[in-house]
Amino acid sequence: MSSPMHQDKRVDQAAVTDESLMAAHEKLIGKQPDEKAHYKLAPLALLFLFSGLIFFGGTYLGRFSGHFHPKVYNEYAMPPKAGEVAAAPAVDPIVLGKAVYAQVCASCHQPNGMGLPPAFPPLAASEWVASEERAIRIVLYGLEGPIKVKGVDYNGVMPAAGPGSGFNLSPEKIAAVLTYIRQEWGNTSGPVTAAKVAEIKGKEGNRAAMKVAELEKLP
Ligand code: HEC
Repeated sequence: MSSPMHQDKRVDQAAVTDESLMAAHEKLIGKQPDEKAHYKLAPLALLFLFSGLIFFGGTYLGRFSGHFHPKVYNEYAMPPKAGEVAAAPAVDPIVLGKAVYAQVCASCHQPNGMGLPPAFPPLAASEWVASEERAIRIVLYGLEGPIKVKGVDYNGVMPAAGPGSGFNLSPEKIAAVLTYIRQEWGNTSGPVTAAKVAEIKGKEGNRAAMKVAELEKLP
């Protein structure tokens, strides 16, 4: 039995489900549901592949990045030109000299260069430090016998510090420590080169401690 109400088409239309409505629309637009256009899960293998790549990349950087040090990664650095030797980073002679002084000389001549009279003469404002020829020989071979420094008499023994001695300082280190003491504590003498130290060592060879009489013949 049907009521007049049920003959109204709109009642049947209102009863359709969403799915049947969408299917009807798709049919109307002429488009069929397309399985291939739907999202799919990425293959699990890709997850493993990229995990592996990231792990490899991290390990590679950790091992070979040089901690991104500017000397390792400098995109502006140019290869040295032909015939030009890449300069080794120069050691500041004052820094090296200061270290050698603290290690070798300061125990006697004191960190402030004032010495410890009457045993150890001062290096600050000393006329012996101002003479390159004399100062190099004193450090290379040591010194013994009476000496007058800034008007005060000393008579002690300074051990040799040059190559082959107990301290075994290289010409570079001797040059550095002399360069340091010649500009420290108000001293104003010029730098000493390792070449000059090596030249004097070549001239004098292996010898006993210097005496003041020998030094006084030198400039
Ligand atoms: C073990 C103690 C001792 C050490 C270490 C020592 N000296 Fe001396 N130095 C002396 C003595 C003592 C004299 C004086 C020697 C003499 O009376 O003949 C002297 C003299 C000198 C002189 C000449 C006099 C003067 O005061 O200017 C110079 C320069 C000098 N030393 C520099 C150095 C330097 C540089 C070092 C380090 C590389 C050094 N000495 C390490 C004890 C030392």
